[in-house]
Amino acid sequence: MNKVNAANSIKNRFQEIEKKMGPFNRKEVSFKLSFMKIKDIQKELINELLELIESNVGNYFKSSKLGWNERKKMRDLKSKNACYLIIKDEDLLAGFSMFKFEMDFDRAVLYCYELQIKEEYQGKGLGRHLMRCMEELAKIHDMECIVLTALANNEEAMRFYEYCGFILDETDPQVKDYKILSKATTK
Ligand SMILES: CC(C)(COP(=O)(O)OP(=O)(O)OC[C@H]1O[C@@H](n2cnc3c(N)ncnc32)[C@H](O)[C@@H]1OP(=O)(O)O)[C@@H](O)C(=O)NCCC(=O)NCCS
Repeated sequence: MNKVNAANSIKNRFQEIEKKMGPFNRKEVSFKLSFMKIKDIQKELINELLELIESNVGNYFKSSKLGWNERKKMRDLKSKNACYLIIKDEDLLAGFSMFKFEMDFDRAVLYCYELQIKEEYQGKGLGRHLMRCMEELAKIHDMECIVLTALANNEEAMRFYEYCGFILDETDPQVKDYKILSKATTK
């Protein structure tokens, strides 16, 4: 628990990662990446994040047993200790990830709750870049692994996570609708 508390109380070590990874440019477009805690996120942005989730994966939720529950999603987005990596193209939202440092069973983990890239920005390496940043954050905060829950019917996301090196986690409950995946932190 101490590692998790430490990771949550430290102000912002994202600058270290930005320095290490350098500016994120793709085909003449220079994306701006920022790290934010939930308390720094304004209402308009949180609404935009929710809209992006619904347009990207709302249908996958609706066609699974979990269903789409907007109020619950908003509660999750606003939950304590939620951390955000936001990618913008000028002033336009291009994508984001939401994660938390937390205990998962007896492991200190970086739990990735959301990874969403706007359709017009998909396939440009933004998702992989956000994942690499989370991998670095997990490493500097000494988390054992990155864990995430993926809807089994979202085959593209499953392939993307496989490409990133995720495997079925030991805590996966073997149910039909979703899979729990993880990737160990490299030392
Ligand atoms: C899944 C998602 C996060 C991937 O991000 P992205 O920015 O589009 O992907 P990237 O451009 O970073 O791709 C990186 C690599 O992953 C691979 N990849 C990406 N999407 C893939 C897919 N659908 N199938 C197979 N491989 C894929 C690519 O081969 C690429 O490798 P390359 O650089 O050698 O070509 C993004 O497409 C997305 O937001 N999708 C909709 C929402 C979603 O499903 N979110 C995740 C679950 S909640």
